[in-house]
Amino acid sequence: MKDLIVASNNKGKIKEYKEILNKYGYNVISQKEAGINIDVDETGTTFEENAHLKAYAIYELTHKNVISDDSGLEVEALNNEPGIYSARYKGIETEDERNNYILNALKRKRNRKAKFNCVICFIDENGHEELFKGIWNGVIAKEKSGTSGFGYDPIFISEDGNGKTTASMPIEFKEKYSHRAKATKLLVDYLENNNVL
Ligand code: IMP
Repeated sequence: MKDLIVASNNKGKIKEYKEILNKYGYNVISQKEAGINIDVDETGTTFEENAHLKAYAIYELTHKNVISDDSGLEVEALNNEPGIYSARYKGIETEDERNNYILNALKRKRNRKAKFNCVICFIDENGHEELFKGIWNGVIAKEKSGTSGFGYDPIFISEDGNGKTTASMPIEFKEKYSHRAKATKLLVDYLENNNVL
């Protein structure tokens, strides 16, 4: 079994990838565990471009199988913000404060529709690249709740969520339904159909 490096320093993301992909028999390691200590600048203007930038930077250093993802929340009534800027929206430092900002911004809005996006970029050890996209539709809650997951999970109620925020659901819920789970399923289908690892 070959290693698959996750080009990310985001602990929440790495944990989710390990949980999902280890089940399929892949030896998932973080870039830190692979001995790489860099933070790639996300200078792209789309999820696709940023996913590519992150994976390619690690591939260039290792020439091993690499995945990265660029993900984020789009809120319809906020012109699809924060989008690719989800991790640093409005320069706000903490996840909790970013959640408060969105709840406030939506206080007088009827339209609470939102969606999570995830684009995974896979580069194999020969440098061949593939992109996989997953989308998770939902709405923004009226208030925060729950402690599982990360980021915007306390304010996101998915279409599969029975009215509860993603952070109020057990971890298995995201493994099954999330934007990341959907993109990962496409990645796994590709890896298995092409005998890549
Ligand atoms: P990235 O590391 O540039 O892809 O940033 C992704 C950001 O989007 C995270 O820091 C979170 O703010 C948000 N995000 C992405 N996926 C999720 C999720 O599954 N739950 C909650 N927030 C997420």
